[in-house]
Amino acid sequence: MIDISSVKKQLLSEILASANPVDVLKSSKLKELYAQIPKLEPSERGKFGKEVNELKIELDKAIEKRRNEIEDSNVSSIDVTAPMDMNSKLPELLPAENGTIHPLSTELYKVIDIFTRMGFEAIESRQIDDDLHMFEALNFPEGHPARDGYDTFRTEEGFIPPAHTSTMQNRILKDGKSALEDGGEIAAISYGRVFRNEDVDATHEHTFYQYEGVFVSKSATLGDMLGVLRSFFESYYGQDLKIKTQPGYFPFVEPGMEFFIEKPATLGGKAGEWLEMLGCGMIHPNVLKSAGIDPNVYRGFAWGGGVDRLAMLKYGIEDLRHFEAGKLEFLRKFKS
Ligand code: DAH
Repeated sequence: MIDISSVKKQLLSEILASANPVDVLKSSKLKELYAQIPKLEPSERGKFGKEVNELKIELDKAIEKRRNEIEDSNVSSIDVTAPMDMNSKLPELLPAENGTIHPLSTELYKVIDIFTRMGFEAIESRQIDDDLHMFEALNFPEGHPARDGYDTFRTEEGFIPPAHTSTMQNRILKDGKSALEDGGEIAAISYGRVFRNEDVDATHEHTFYQYEGVFVSKSATLGDMLGVLRSFFESYYGQDLKIKTQPGYFPFVEPGMEFFIEKPATLGGKAGEWLEMLGCGMIHPNVLKSAGIDPNVYRGFAWGGGVDRLAMLKYGIEDLRHFEAGKLEFLRKFKS
């Protein structure tokens, strides 16, 4: 009769030495052990069979362990310090092309750059807001008819994806209050995406970009505002420009106005051709009050305009929908 413990010893050492441990059991003494079981007296059969089974389990474990060892040693046999063969064939690469900055981003960066050089702090606007910032704090009380003009989307919870960057005004004013009290001023722009629930066509998009300015001090005047805006557009278009305003109604400014520039010659403009660029005005006392700023001591001006408009005029883009379409033929035109 074959002795289980000597079979075990022999097979374990064979497994440890083998490069192919699974094969060790194929033609081994283990088979002979199994073959013996039915020949035994029924009284011994159970105990012996159990021992053979336990041996099988132990051997399987040893095989698994040995296989893992072999796999690991294969990995470490790659010499990562070997020099690269510069003469070997280069791999076939997939076709690739460089991307390009989206034209709206290019124009927005320019706007931010000009205003920050003038001393304005730039703050990105948010993409979800509430009734307080969209309307209440901007002097549109509940039921105010001008609310309808903003075609706002609303979430089921009542939040609003902002329809203008003016939603940032209350935050800018509150944050700047202490600077005012220290004898300084508030000078900030806020920029970002805005959303309106309107029918999309060549001049209306559900998603577009705005830049908003806020300035507050003890002595800010309408003349200062016109000077800031004129400097901005002259710097943006790189030439002297004529400007004009006409009255415009926005609940958060008084007086409120629409701001025009004479169409720059670089864009093919002729004298007397005017372009409306943005809305602006002196900040309404109620807007200052809603941020805890005393309108009898401080005054300010604000403006808000579209980045899409700047880009459309600059590049002669006839349809606003190109910007959000993600069409490569369009975007490739802006490759520098
Ligand atoms: N928020 C206005 C709009 O989107 C634009 C605007 C007008 C902003 C006058 C201002 C302002 O800050 O003073 O239609």
